[in-house]
Amino acid sequence: MDNFLFRKDFSTNNYFGEESLPEFGNLCSQYDNLLVFADEFVFSLHQNFLQNILAQSRIDYEVFSLPRGEDAKDIDLWKNLTNKIMEKGLSRKSAVVAIGGGAISDFSGFFASTCMRGLDHIIFPTTVLAMVDAALGGKTAINNKAGKNMVGTWHFPEAVFFLPAFLGTLTGRELLSGLGEMVKHSILGSAELFEELQAFLEIFEYWQDFDKESNFTLVEKIFPLVISAQKIKMEIVQKDPFQHNLRYILNFGHSAGHALEALSNYKLLHGIAVLQGMRTELEIGLEYFNFPQKDFELIVSFLDSLLESESIKSDYEGFRKYLVRDKKNLKKSTIISLPSGLGKFESASFLKKVDPLWFANTNLFRDG
Ligand code: GLY
Repeated sequence: MDNFLFRKDFSTNNYFGEESLPEFGNLCSQYDNLLVFADEFVFSLHQNFLQNILAQSRIDYEVFSLPRGEDAKDIDLWKNLTNKIMEKGLSRKSAVVAIGGGAISDFSGFFASTCMRGLDHIIFPTTVLAMVDAALGGKTAINNKAGKNMVGTWHFPEAVFFLPAFLGTLTGRELLSGLGEMVKHSILGSAELFEELQAFLEIFEYWQDFDKESNFTLVEKIFPLVISAQKIKMEIVQKDPFQHNLRYILNFGHSAGHALEALSNYKLLHGIAVLQGMRTELEIGLEYFNFPQKDFELIVSFLDSLLESESIKSDYEGFRKYLVRDKKNLKKSTIISLPSGLGKFESASFLKKVDPLWFANTNLFRDG
């Protein structure tokens, strides 16, 4: 029997800054219409700006408002929207446009990949978290009863537009959540970026909730750091786009982090859960896997200062229930992804089998 070789195209064009917007107009010339999935709050906050951008497509578009955060990744919402949009008649030359944070790009990417076996997906990430993580690398997802991101596909976006203007209206907590993934990327790939993020923390304290003009000045400082953090992720994704091995390292902090998010009923923002997840998993690294003491102290002191206003505590039994459901797990053991020190990881051995009981002795479950 002959073997057939199929090529899966997963190239994405990334564009930075408002000066890149004419490229959106050019890109849209290949489509009939746009299905725009937008975070309802972001859309109202940036209405004029967004309508100007969409007008540059010079084709018809319809905006579908989605709820904020994980509520958007609802399996019934996906079903209802698919029915509603298809009832009206849908062209194969429609493209799906996401405007919002990571939950919106996850959901709309899933919609795009499943609708008529795949429509093009264009993303305008509006949070730091989405810019450094969710909009990069082709993962799409919705949630079901088994947990977060349990239903999903690989569908690399056609283009992503990174516009710093959106970041000035983030709340302090949303920014902290984005910093969580940036800090993770720095721990995995760059001690230098880690130091730059430590320096940023000094001015982060002055970050006010949205509508404050001073935030836009801070955006100029954080945007170059966002780009450095993206590069670390993309180097890893380019080597292993479909997560056969290396890409699992990006799950550092996520085994504990996802369990905390689920336990909070997704009230805890993803990147903040990852900050705490890294803290917890590093304690296991120090205790059981020779993680260097000096790097541990440096990283944990930074994580603790970022987490100061959050004071996350958990109950072990509830935590354990979600921990053992993680997608990375093998049949009978729990797995974490652990770097080998600040700015590095061993590609051959970063996946560590852990006993869930080891978590019980970490600071998450200690008083005070
Ligand atoms: N968020 C982890 C990844 O994209 O692989």
